[in-house]
Amino acid sequence: MSSTTTPVAWTPSSWAELDAKQQPTWPDADALSLALREIEAQPPLVFAGEARELSKQLARVSRGEAFLLQGGDCAETFDAFSADQIRDKFKVLLQMAVVLTYGAQLPVVKVGRIAGQFAKPRSSDTETRDGQTMPSYRGDAVNSLAFDGGARMPDPQRMVKMYHQSSSTLNLLRAFARGGFADLRRVQEWNQEFVGDSPQGKRYEAIGEEIDRALGFLAAAGVDLSAPTFHQVDAYTSHEALLLGYEQALTRRDSLTGDFYDCSAHMLWIGERTRDPDGAHVHFLSGVKNPIGCKLGPTATPDEVDELVARLNPDNIPGRLTFITRFGAENVSEGLPPLLAHSREAGHNLVWSCDPCHGNTFTAESGYKTRRYDDVMAEVRGFFGAHAQEGTVPGGVHVELTGEDVTECVGGARDILDADLGDRYETACDPRLNAEQSLELAFEMAEMLRS
Ligand code: PEP
Ligand code: CO
Repeated sequence: MSSTTTPVAWTPSSWAELDAKQQPTWPDADALSLALREIEAQPPLVFAGEARELSKQLARVSRGEAFLLQGGDCAETFDAFSADQIRDKFKVLLQMAVVLTYGAQLPVVKVGRIAGQFAKPRSSDTETRDGQTMPSYRGDAVNSLAFDGGARMPDPQRMVKMYHQSSSTLNLLRAFARGGFADLRRVQEWNQEFVGDSPQGKRYEAIGEEIDRALGFLAAAGVDLSAPTFHQVDAYTSHEALLLGYEQALTRRDSLTGDFYDCSAHMLWIGERTRDPDGAHVHFLSGVKNPIGCKLGPTATPDEVDELVARLNPDNIPGRLTFITRFGAENVSEGLPPLLAHSREAGHNLVWSCDPCHGNTFTAESGYKTRRYDDVMAEVRGFFGAHAQEGTVPGGVHVELTGEDVTECVGGARDILDADLGDRYETACDPRLNAEQSLELAFEMAEMLRS
């Protein structure tokens, strides 16, 4: 709860007057302000006009005229950073989008959890191993995953590094999205090698062949296939706006409208642990005009929904606010409908997106943190069911995934077992669906969207 009851007038720094949860304990205040000043002096990563365009796309999502696909790593890291990894993540998003667009005949708005997703909320400030206690890993933006004293000490220069890595990542994404890689005529080439031989890969190939035929038909009928729609896509970035000092440093006033935008990403979201309507995170994001997401877990109440709407979208603008629900497969069918019914009756304009990951994490017998593909699927199914029941729009999905052939989530067509998790368990934080599991999810969702 907030430390004050008087509303705080918004400025980019006014969040600091409120209770900011999940902030690192930076050991050296001077080093922190030095790092933030360095970031403040950098150019913005995205432009206000792009964020406005995404808001427009999300308004279409809120009306059921498009579908939101948001996905990427739980946590990006400084080590797992290469052109190939960025390309493979982008590829899997493009493949999922093709499956959804083709299957559901709906445009897909593609938003990566990428180019800035480096800070993590933690359930505990410290971690104890073999009797030794250290600060918890809070993402590469803050400290290192390695469990030794020096490595776990929060270092604000890491935020400077995050800025530069985000900038390089975004640069490559823009090139992929605009420079021919995302050309619909290359739809077959996006099939990753290891996916190509799988049942999902074959299903995808079949769609690819149909798309090739459809393009051939259009060309023969005289349609100009050199138009940008056929060979470029819009790729948007997003991350959890957790480290408010960093977000403030990249907040700029748009010269066109005079409004403030957080130029660290196109879309920012508020996590389950920081969504206190009176807290610093909600306050900070209430003042920037980017499209905003807010996670809602099983404890969320209709009153909280109203309070969040009142602060984050007082003008009820469609596309401004996305609620990302993460109830868990077991709770979604009971927990979600009352929030949907309430919001429908209140007339809130919202995008509803399903995060089928964060409510379904558990520790396997092997000791690895994992998720069952079937639970992920069950939550998506429950999400679609709840919207069908309430007559609201199931607008999108928010998933932790990677383009690599990792073994982090159990199940899926290849039936990854607990015993297989050690083969390629590479995440720095939560378990991600691999490319094949992601594609399988897209096929199943396309069917749900069709029916
Ligand atoms: C996340 O999206 O990585 C996350 C921490 O989710 P949540 O806030 O829903 O727990
Ligand atoms: Co996560």
